[in-house]
Amino acid sequence: MKIAVIGTGYVGLVTGTCFADSGNDVTCVDIDQAKIERLNRGEIPIYEPGLEEMVRENQAAERLHFTTDLVAAVAPASMIYLAIGTPQSDDGAANLSALWVVVDSIAPHLRQDAVVVTKSTVPVGTCSKIFARLKEHTGRDCDVASNPEFLKEGSAIEDFMRPDRVVVGVRREEVGDALHELYKPFLRTEKPFLIMSPESAEMTKYVANALLSTKISFINEMANLCERMGGDINDVRRGIGHDSRIGFAFLFPGVGYGGSCFPKDVRALVKMAEEYDVEPRIMLAVDEVNEKQKRVMIEKIGAQFSRNLRGKTVAVWGLAFKPRTDDIREAPALVLIDWLLTAGAKIQVHDPEAMENVRALYGEKITYCAKPMEALNGADALAIMTEWGDYQRPEFKEMFQRMRSPVIFDGRNLYEPWTMERLGFKYHSIGRPAVG
Ligand SMILES: NC(=O)c1ccc[n+]([C@@H]2O[C@H](COP(=O)([O-])OP(=O)(O)OC[C@H]3O[C@@H](n4cnc5c(N)ncnc54)[C@H](O)[C@@H]3O)[C@@H](O)[C@H]2O)c1
Repeated sequence: MKIAVIGTGYVGLVTGTCFADSGNDVTCVDIDQAKIERLNRGEIPIYEPGLEEMVRENQAAERLHFTTDLVAAVAPASMIYLAIGTPQSDDGAANLSALWVVVDSIAPHLRQDAVVVTKSTVPVGTCSKIFARLKEHTGRDCDVASNPEFLKEGSAIEDFMRPDRVVVGVRREEVGDALHELYKPFLRTEKPFLIMSPESAEMTKYVANALLSTKISFINEMANLCERMGGDINDVRRGIGHDSRIGFAFLFPGVGYGGSCFPKDVRALVKMAEEYDVEPRIMLAVDEVNEKQKRVMIEKIGAQFSRNLRGKTVAVWGLAFKPRTDDIREAPALVLIDWLLTAGAKIQVHDPEAMENVRALYGEKITYCAKPMEALNGADALAIMTEWGDYQRPEFKEMFQRMRSPVIFDGRNLYEPWTMERLGFKYHSIGRPAVG
C-alpha cells in the first residue's frame, strides 16, 4: 500500500516506520522543516527505544520517506493517516486547528479511492466533520475512518508491532477490510481487530485514557490517606493487586501523571461532556486530584525546610514524564523545578534522555549533570521524579557521601524505607511513613 502519514511526531513517526517495516511504501510529512531534514540525514528527533535502527533500515530499503511536501505525499496515497498533534486549548478542549489546516490542504489532491484515517486523538464526531469538510471541497463522499492509537512512549515500537487490539471506526465494510489487510502483519498472535463506528472508535480512545488516569488518581488518593493514617501503600497495593478483579497495572502511587495524553485527554473529555450537558464528576475529580498530586513533592520538601529554600541545593533525578522517553510535556518534574526556582533554590538535574528538552525551557537557570551522582554533589536534598532504571540500584554509600545532608524525597517509591533508615538517610516517599 502507498501510505502518507501526516505529522511526524511520537505517533506519526512510529506509525509510518512500522507500516513501512511491514512492506508498505510510506511517506511521512511534517511542517517542521528542521525535523524532516534531520530525519533525511538519518537522525531521529525523539528518543524512543528501537526506533532509530528501524527508521534507518526502512529508509535504506526505500520504503520510508520524509518530506515537507504534503501534496506530493498525499496525491499517490491510498491511505492518508493524520497523526498531527491535538493539544489542549485554553478552555480544555482538544485544539484541532492544525488538523483542519491539513484536511483543507489535502482535499483537492485526494485519490478517488483514498481513505483518510485519523490516528490523532480527536473528539467524538470529528470523523463525521472531516467527511463533511471533504465533501464541501470535493463534492463527493470521501472515506474517513478512525484508528486510534494506544501505544505507550518508551515501548511504542513493541506496542505498535504487537498491539493488544486494533480499533477501527468505519462507515463502509470495504474500508474496514482495507484497514484489516494493513494490520494483518501486526495481528499474527490472533489479537482482535475491532470494527465499530467512527464515533465509538473515537470514544474508545478517550475512555481508555480516562480509565487509566482514574486508576492513577485513585491510588494516589489512597496513598495520601495511608500516609496520614499510618499504612504503607505498597503493602496495600500488594494486598489488592492479587485480586484478579483488580490487578496491578496502573496502580503505582507517585507524583501524578503527566505526558502529552492523559492530562489533555481527560480535560477534552470533560469539555465534550459539558457540551452535551453532562456533568463529568469523576473526570473532574481525577484531574483535580492529579493537579494536587503534582505538588506533593513541593509540600514535602517545603515542610522539611520550613518553606525556606533560599541557598539550598536540590538534586532532581528524572525529568521525563516517565522512563524510556525524552518527552517532558506536562511532566511533574517541571512543576517542582518551577517552584524550586521561585523559592530561590539551586537545582542540579539528571535525566538519561530528557535534559536537552529541559534545557530548551530553562537554559542555564539550572545545572545539568551527565551522571546521577554528579547531581548530588553538595545537595541538601534529592527529589526522584521519574523511575528510570538508572536510579533503581544506586550506590547508597556514595550518595550519602556526596550529599551535604542525606535527605531523599522519592516520588516513585524506588527504595525500601527500612534500608534507607539503616543507611542513615532521611527518607520520604509516597504513601509510606517517612523514616530517618
Ligand atoms: N504521544 C503519545 O504517546 C500518543 C499516544 C496515542 C495517541 N496520541 C495522539 O496522537 C496525536 C499526535 O501525538 P504526538 O505525541 O505524536 O504529537 P507530536 O507533537 O509529537 O507530533 C505532532 C507532529 O505534527 C506536526 N504538525 C503539526 N501541524 C502540522 C501540519 N499542518 N502539517 C504537517 N505536520 C504538522 C508537528 O510538527 C509534529 O511533528 C495526538 O492527537 C495525540 O493525542 C499520542
